[in-house]
Amino acid sequence: MTLTASPDQSRLKSADTRQTILEARGLTKSFRGFVAVDKVDLKIQRGGIHALIGPNGAGKTTVFNLLTRFIPPTSGNILLFGEDITRQSAHALARHGVVRSFQISATFPHLSVIENLKIAVQRPSVSPGRFWQSSRSLAHLEERAHHFLELVELKKFAQVAAGELPYGHKRALELATTLATDPKVMLLDEPTQGLGIEEVDHITQLIKRFSKERTVLMVEHNMRMVAAIADRISVLRYGRIIAEGSYDEVSRNPQVIEAYLGSKAKKENQQENKQGNKQ
Ligand SMILES: Nc1ncnc2c1ncn2[C@@H]1O[C@H](COP(=O)(O)OP(=O)(O)OP(=O)(O)O)[C@@H](O)[C@H]1O
Ligand SMILES: [Mg+2]
Repeated sequence: MTLTASPDQSRLKSADTRQTILEARGLTKSFRGFVAVDKVDLKIQRGGIHALIGPNGAGKTTVFNLLTRFIPPTSGNILLFGEDITRQSAHALARHGVVRSFQISATFPHLSVIENLKIAVQRPSVSPGRFWQSSRSLAHLEERAHHFLELVELKKFAQVAAGELPYGHKRALELATTLATDPKVMLLDEPTQGLGIEEVDHITQLIKRFSKERTVLMVEHNMRMVAAIADRISVLRYGRIIAEGSYDEVSRNPQVIEAYLGSKAKKENQQENKQGNKQ
């Protein structure tokens, strides 16, 4: 399709790119002939939480790795604000604000929570020529560090070394240090993995709270969490998007039900076989 540059069309285009922050077009990845991600089209719109779900091995992490440029696609394109970024490095992408939690947010275990946050809030603004900050801007950074400390409810732990924090709080700190870099899109791969029930609820509430002014793409297995906070859901199966919409919409979709029931039945079968083998 060719676009002629009529004023109306250019207005439409700018309205569209304002809405869509990150986009995948025909994104495909094969590993030695095995197609793990197959012509995926995905639009991450500004604001709120977009969840990517699907049974084990559906290709969720691979999509994530492609979107954050951890691995190169076999074909297809990735666009950020309408601009093709398919060939950019993971670092360049992070600088443009496409940030994966635990990517540049690695916390320093021997430093306290507040020290970690102070370092994180300097990241977006410090360029090589601006290492020495005025005392006014340092005061501003201090304020921002405290803002994130409160946002993730870690005030009580401000002086505790990051490495000493309970696991759930460590996750909260990692979220805070990622948030502090002011990402345009924040990508979370299974943020509740390995957490106990109470910690899951806590992290869920935190993500919900900060997503109000942010854009989040998350891969998550915990359906209760997805149902509670995702604004939009894309369902992957065998590397393809099979459904998209709200939780109510996708959970009623027969293909989605089949995908989940099918994978559940497969798991149960495998378990039965294992038990059968033991007997
Ligand atoms: N580096 C790789 N080399 C070969 N095959 C791979 C590689 N990475 C992923 N795969 C395969 O691609 C498919 C999709 O894997 P992926 O990890 O993206 O799935 P997933 O949806 O994240 O699964 P899970 O829910 O278990 O985390 C799987 O069949 C997996 O074995
Ligand atoms: Mg995965």
